[in-house]
Amino acid sequence: MTVFSERKTDRAEVLVKDLCFAYPQQPSVLQGVSFAIQPGDRVALLGPTGSGKSTLLEQLIGLKLPTAGEVWIGGMRVEPRTLPQIRRRLGFCFQDANDQLFMPTILEDVMFGPLNYGMPIAQAKNQARDLLARFGLDVYEARSAHELSGGQKRLVALAAVLALEPAILILDEPTTGLDPRWRRSLARVLGELPTQAIVIASHDLHWIRQTTDRALVLYGGQIREDCSTERLLGDRSLLESYDLPLDY
Ligand SMILES: Nc1ncnc2c1ncn2[C@@H]1O[C@H](COP(=O)(O)OP(=O)(O)OP(=O)(O)O)[C@@H](O)[C@H]1O
Ligand SMILES: [Mg+2]
Repeated sequence: MTVFSERKTDRAEVLVKDLCFAYPQQPSVLQGVSFAIQPGDRVALLGPTGSGKSTLLEQLIGLKLPTAGEVWIGGMRVEPRTLPQIRRRLGFCFQDANDQLFMPTILEDVMFGPLNYGMPIAQAKNQARDLLARFGLDVYEARSAHELSGGQKRLVALAAVLALEPAILILDEPTTGLDPRWRRSLARVLGELPTQAIVIASHDLHWIRQTTDRALVLYGGQIREDCSTERLLGDRSLLESYDLPLDY
């Protein structure tokens, strides 16, 4: 099924065309993935464990490069030459927050990106404090990420990404380790962002319903469904057919 050809693609924020990817000496994980994400889209990327969601998202930011096919972000093809511009446009929160927090304190973690792009130190500090406060973490600003809980680390990683005001936000399993109160807060924060497009890989189907309006299902190496989140989550047998039961 080519979802790609049915959608308007000329001003797509994200365009993925016939993408294939295999890890060395492994069977291919992605076998012709195509989709386009338009400004304003809030998209859930669903699929069972091991279906390739993280692998696909990492291609959007050029951490992995396809064995065949193309990825375009904001009209730029993802290739080694364009990575600095791509990474300015696209904010990425890893499935494992430990991969992106490395400074002595979380305040410095959140200041790191803006300082790198030339923001004055006082402004970067104020902005970092505001972002940490939004997630109730300002009291921990002098701690290192290693001294926080898993859920708190995840929120710091998100604050660090939001500090760069990305046009496109990619979140890989953002609710892991968050209690219901923080899941609700995170949904509210995401709902208020001016970000052009958001893509969220998640197994948290109820939360996804609150935060996205479109759902892609990655299954068997391809995008097998592209429909409204409401329609997908309203169809239990369709979900079951992709090994995505609502309850267990
Ligand atoms: N570095 C790697 N080397 C070899 N195989 C890998 C590597 N990383 C992932 N894989 C394999 O690629 C497949 C897809 O993994 P991926 O992490 O993209 O899945 P996922 O859909 O994100 O899963 P989850 O829901 O558990 O996060 C899996 O079969 C996995 O074992
Ligand atoms: Mg994953």
